[in-house]
Amino acid sequence: SQPLRVGVAGLGTVGMSVVRILARQENALAARCGRPVRVTAVSSRDRSRDRGIDLRRYAWFDDPVELARSGEVDCVVELIGGDEGPARATVEAALASGKHVVTANKALLARHGLGLARAAEEAGVALAFEASSAGGIPIVKALREALAGNAVSRLYGILNGTCNYILSRMELEGLSFQDCLKDAQRLGYAEADPTFDVEGFDTAHKLAILTSLAFGTEIDAEAIHVEGISSITPLDLRMADELGFRIKLLGVAERTKTGIEQRVHPTMVPKSSAIAQVMGVTNAVTIDADAVRELTLIGPGAGGDPTASAVVADIADVASAPPRAPFGRPVDRLEKPQRAPM
Ligand code: NDP
Ligand code: HSE
Repeated sequence: SQPLRVGVAGLGTVGMSVVRILARQENALAARCGRPVRVTAVSSRDRSRDRGIDLRRYAWFDDPVELARSGEVDCVVELIGGDEGPARATVEAALASGKHVVTANKALLARHGLGLARAAEEAGVALAFEASSAGGIPIVKALREALAGNAVSRLYGILNGTCNYILSRMELEGLSFQDCLKDAQRLGYAEADPTFDVEGFDTAHKLAILTSLAFGTEIDAEAIHVEGISSITPLDLRMADELGFRIKLLGVAERTKTGIEQRVHPTMVPKSSAIAQVMGVTNAVTIDADAVRELTLIGPGAGGDPTASAVVADIADVASAPPRAPFGRPVDRLEKPQRAPM
């Protein structure tokens, strides 16, 4: 049978992990998907950089949009990042060329997800984004597939690995905010612009995506009240500790009488609670729903391999199945606080 030809645009932390995992799991994926899954083309800015593996076996594109339009690929994996620029142009070019798209780009989806979903549906191709929320936790598939029979009343959790890593190390090791952030950047957890992490916008982007899936609403990150962790001090953490609490950056979406309310802010959680035990780069998402009652998924929220695990799952879906509507159809409405744009 015909192989699925994959083009990877962006060979950074996540992109290189995806290339490595696809090579390592080649036989298992071919068996699981019923056909081979092969990287045929790659794109990044710097062709000369040593990325630890020989990339000469793949067609190289300096311009990811050219990769997206190329006849060498059936599925474009966008791992560049950013809600505009080359990432958006690559995804749009891929969809316009009738290519399936897999992306981890929550900023792009939070801003342009509905338009991109429409373009994917019109083209009859997949737009898959498991890795866009909570790293290696399969939360998108859980909401779309495993929990399809539920009416969700609340979804909340720790959705940013960088912030949880910073808060954990500040509390447990007494390190400074800046030192912890530098380590998160070195380890590949933080966004290219870490303001998105520490000011809560990355959590808001993920929450907007998950809210849409959980409650059947449009995606709207502008409708979210957002506060980050940049003003949390070691003293705040110590005082919370003395009172029996930990501080966590939570994203919360819940059904109210007037619509679905979404918010992101640092929250004092009792130390005895399950969510207080979630430390380091780990994320956790809890879903309250009518049938399943309460369900919590916990796992690595950032980093190359955990995120690539989710990206590869989407690639395997593309290889195996006809595409489904990326976000379904909106059936509920969001509450929209009045405030300046993010
Ligand atoms: P990196 O910054 O490590 O990698 C980005 C890659 O994009 C680099 O290889 C860079 O090229 C390439 N790139 C940038 N601009 C261009 C361009 N104009 N043309 C071609 N290539 C370009 O990012 P990450 O791997 O960390 O993240 C990728 C995506 O995954 C982002 O959307 C991020 O939000 C998301 N994500 C990341 C997670 C993580 O833990 N890191 C977790 C979940 C999602 P070069 O190397 O040549 O400079
Ligand atoms: N910067 C993000 C985080 C990457 O730290 O959670 C995973 O989406």
